[in-house]
Amino acid sequence: MALVSALSPHAESQLDVIVSGLYSSGYVVLDHVFDDNYLTCLLKELIDLKPDDFRPAGIGRDDEFHKNRFVRNDRIHWLEGDETFLSSYRTWGESLRLAVNRRLFLGLYEYECMFAHYPEGAFYKRHIDAFNAGINRRLSTVLYLNPQWGSNDGGELLMYAPDSDKVINRISPQMGRLVVFLSEEFPHEVLPAKRARYSLTGWYRINEGRHPAF
Ligand code: OGA
Ligand code: MN
Repeated sequence: MALVSALSPHAESQLDVIVSGLYSSGYVVLDHVFDDNYLTCLLKELIDLKPDDFRPAGIGRDDEFHKNRFVRNDRIHWLEGDETFLSSYRTWGESLRLAVNRRLFLGLYEYECMFAHYPEGAFYKRHIDAFNAGINRRLSTVLYLNPQWGSNDGGELLMYAPDSDKVINRISPQMGRLVVFLSEEFPHEVLPAKRARYSLTGWYRINEGRHPAF
C-alpha cells in the first residue's frame, strides 16, 4: 500500500507534534496519524498471522527469558521486517526516527516491533521498557488497533510520572491512537482488558553495541 494512502493528510505536521511533545513532556498521545482504512487492513493482516506464531510474552532479555504471569499475560508476535502489509508503517517509523534524531539528537538507530494481543482479562503491571542493562531502548511506540473500544472495556494504559506513583495520564486504547514516550523515563502499566485488546508496539534502540571481551 502506498504511503500516501496509509497516512492522514496531516502526517507530516504530526511528526512535528510528536517531536515537540517529546521535547516538552517526554511523551505524546495522538489520534488519526494513520488513515482509517489502513488501520482496518493492518488489524486484519495482523490477526491473520497464525495464532501458533503467538507466544506468551516474557520479561526481559531473551537470554534471561522468564515468564511471569503475575506481571504480564499478553501474547506477542515479533514482526520480522519483511511483512509487506507493514511497509507503509515502517516507512512512517523511519521518518519519525529521522525527525527525532534531527531535532532531539537521540541517536535512534533501529526499530523493532511486535503485535500484542491481550486476551480478555490480560494485563501488564507497572514496568519500564528499558529496565534491563544492554537493551538500549530509547523510545517506545504503541499504536492501538481496537475499533469501538468503550469506556467499560478496561485495558487503559496508565502513564506514571518519572520515578513516581503519580498517574499523569490514563489512555484508552482506541483504534488508531498512538502513544510515543521516552522508554527510560516513564513507568507505565496496562489495566486488565475486558475484551481482546490489540496493539502494534515497538521500540527504537540506539546502537551502543557491546564491549568486546578481552
Ligand atoms: C509493552 C507495553 C503498553 C500498551 O508492551 O511494553 O507497555 O498499552 N504496552 O499496550
Ligand atoms: Mn511497556
